[in-house]
Amino acid sequence: MKFFIDTANLEQIKEAEDMGILDGVTTNPSLMAKEGITGTDNILKHYVKICNLVEGDVSAEVIATDFEGMVREGEALADLHDQIVVKLPMIKDGIKACKYFSDKGIKTNVTLVFSAGQALLAAKAGATYVSPFIGRLDDISTDGLNLIAEIRQIYDNYAFETQILAASVRHTMHVIDCAKLGADVMTGPLSSIEGLLKHPLTDIGLAKFLEDYKKGN
Ligand code: E4P
Repeated sequence: MKFFIDTANLEQIKEAEDMGILDGVTTNPSLMAKEGITGTDNILKHYVKICNLVEGDVSAEVIATDFEGMVREGEALADLHDQIVVKLPMIKDGIKACKYFSDKGIKTNVTLVFSAGQALLAAKAGATYVSPFIGRLDDISTDGLNLIAEIRQIYDNYAFETQILAASVRHTMHVIDCAKLGADVMTGPLSSIEGLLKHPLTDIGLAKFLEDYKKGN
């Protein structure tokens, strides 16, 4: 299972990268705005900074919602760095653009996916990644994890190569549940990754080992 971090914050990206377990980064316009990164030039420069910090795929989202605009923006994003994955919204022109980029061998991430049917279309269009937003489904009392299970079943039925990128992960249990269900990738905040480290028995056991060591030395 690949671990992506879902942020545009360079310190947090570096912290996850330094743990040696990071496989990539996802961003979106809201995450860029949260870091105060505004204006096309600054946003493009920020993507390059992120690519230079990590080794894996970095999803960069288009703003256009028409096919020609998405192609124009996506090509400019892909030209920035070979780690860039063009992130496209799950709308009709987004699917057309996904097919266009897939045919050219440019990696894509179809985002804002909330149903199995949408995920099926993304796979048909050759998406590298499909991003079902599990947290946002949970927010409206719909089981986000059930969507991961449905997509897993459909993709396995037909051996689709599109990777299921569980997105809108909010906490550590989401990460574990997505792993159980066979999501290929999860993207979440640093806290969802660091939460995996924690167990009180680890802390108690370590304290005891150190105490006993000190007694004999
Ligand atoms: C995924 O690519 C999105 O950036 C993200 O996971 C959305 O998460 P949120 O629902 O917590 O905003």
